[in-house]
Amino acid sequence: MSTSEPTQTPIDADGSFEVHLQKSGQTLKVSKDQSILSVLQDAGHDVPFSCSQGVCGTCLTSVIAGTPDHWDMFLTPEEQQANDQMLICCSRSQTARLVLDL
Ligand code: FES
Repeated sequence: MSTSEPTQTPIDADGSFEVHLQKSGQTLKVSKDQSILSVLQDAGHDVPFSCSQGVCGTCLTSVIAGTPDHWDMFLTPEEQQANDQMLICCSRSQTARLVLDL
């Protein structure tokens, strides 16, 4: 019998997923109609951003675990495939849990 890791499990059918912030130890839920950036801001985190459209690269964040669903136009296809960084203003998650270096 295998146990499934949330960072490997696909996201919920309702499109929501969980973001765990490694440095602060906080876990936040991102619903289908929210961005990771807006959830972090609502939780009081001062995250740098500018365009909010995946173009400028200001919100680039390191990914520790989980698989991002890249929606940006900033990273190269190779960088996106590495899945070790993401633009949190627009990109989402393919896995039920993402662990970010925040
Ligand atoms: S704020 Fe510009 S790419 Fe995220």
